[in-house]
Amino acid sequence: MPDDPRLLVGFDKADDAGVFRISDQMALIQTVDFFTPMVDDPYSFGQIAAANALSDVYAMGGKPLTAMNIVCFPECLDVGILREIIKGGLSKIEEAGAVLVGGHTIDDAEPKYGLSVTGVIDPQRVTTNHGAREEDCLYMTKSLGTGIIATAIKGEMADENQIAAVISSMTALNDRARDAMMEVGVNACTDVTGFGLLGHAMEMAEGSGVGIELWSDSLGFLPGAMELANMGLIPGGAYSNRDYLQDRVEVEEGLDLTCLDIMYSPETSGGLLISVDQMSSRRLEEEFVRQGVVFFKVGRVKGAKPGRIRVLRRE
Ligand code: CO
Ligand code: CO
Ligand code: CO
Repeated sequence: MPDDPRLLVGFDKADDAGVFRISDQMALIQTVDFFTPMVDDPYSFGQIAAANALSDVYAMGGKPLTAMNIVCFPECLDVGILREIIKGGLSKIEEAGAVLVGGHTIDDAEPKYGLSVTGVIDPQRVTTNHGAREEDCLYMTKSLGTGIIATAIKGEMADENQIAAVISSMTALNDRARDAMMEVGVNACTDVTGFGLLGHAMEMAEGSGVGIELWSDSLGFLPGAMELANMGLIPGGAYSNRDYLQDRVEVEEGLDLTCLDIMYSPETSGGLLISVDQMSSRRLEEEFVRQGVVFFKVGRVKGAKPGRIRVLRRE
């Protein structure tokens, strides 16, 4: 990693975004994310891609300022589809209070869309993914299962209600969850995306030098996620995440393995995983309620060796 002292967060600990100090009062947060469609409706896809890209700024505790579109689009496809994707993205940029300042489009065989986002934060208040401390409580906002349901959509196995619920979850900004955690002050945060709950929790455990215990019964699951995962609709990423992580994950005997599959599955535009001091946990819960944020108390920093995760059914 470059050793410039102004670089507060680089890529050495797999954090959500880079953070660069420009003065004692202000640091820039920079992040980029784009991917191929996981839903059929282009406007919803634009919203999902934008919410997902903006989320990395929220995961650092920051406020998004500006965004740029990144677009790959086949020349042979109807340009009206592209217009819908970009309109969807813009709606989320505006909802976040940020400003679209430009972008770039190239011709490509498969459509892809996302954003590069710049945000700001007080350099003293950057929330990294590696500040978790012994005895912290762990919270997760949003339910799990976006990867499962996206796989079911591809296989035409998801019903209308399941699709509506997953779109509403993936298009939801993590802005109010961010407001709640910054109001209270927390030790660590990351958003749960491609590496799944277990992957991102592992980054937190390793980066913080602590062990993490997760409770499968306390997790939230999107409607249909358990049934569809039970039918074997598991995204390929879940298997690669498991191969990479399983030596460091200890699982309680008798635990529902479908649950575990979902915990390994990639998420798109997932919620925030937050590690907060026990003394502040009640206040964080009150703040979540006040902000109307769905939350789950999913575990604690305890019960496992440093850099390891233990999955139990319940506390
Ligand atoms: Co992230
Ligand atoms: Co990201
Ligand atoms: Co972070």
